[in-house]
Amino acid sequence: MTPEHQHLIESTWQQVVPIADTAATLFYERLFQLDPDLGFLFAGTDMGKQKGKLVEMLSDVVGNLDHLEDLLPMIAALGRRHVDYGVEAHHYDLVGQALLDTLATGLGEAWSDSAAEAWAAAYGLISTTMQDGAATMVPQAKSA
Ligand code: HEM
Repeated sequence: MTPEHQHLIESTWQQVVPIADTAATLFYERLFQLDPDLGFLFAGTDMGKQKGKLVEMLSDVVGNLDHLEDLLPMIAALGRRHVDYGVEAHHYDLVGQALLDTLATGLGEAWSDSAAEAWAAAYGLISTTMQDGAATMVPQAKSA
């Protein structure tokens, strides 16, 4: 990720924060529109709380872009927990698509091709790290 990417992510995220709750609602609507079958993963989930957790995690990442390497172990652990939630590798592309579509809708004129490129780079790094974390799970650890 370049310093330009970092700047674009920080400045666009600042505009999302005041509408974070609406953005999170839009995000899950878009995700279930892209794949209605994904609903089963969230069948027992309190979506109100889940939205807060997603926004909090994204805020954490955006606030630490200049030393993201410090967060990588935490992100890998998040990926390992996602295996227990039933999340599979191909779900990551759908979530990435839903995230970018939501940002584009939420930001309107403030959205641009460069912002899309920056967010895609950041999401790519996070999702690869989560999946690498998931891949390091051994079967015994999975149910521990
Ligand atoms: C950048 C990628 C992602 C981030 C930052 C993220 C963030 C989170 C966070 C913070 C939680 C709360 C629980 C915890 O901390 O372990 C969570 C739970 C969950 N996430 Fe994700 N997630 C991502 C990708 C995905 C993907 C690809 C899916 C699959 C569609 C998914 C489905 C779920 C489910 C099913 C839960 C559990 C909900 C429950 O507690 O019932 N997430 N996610």
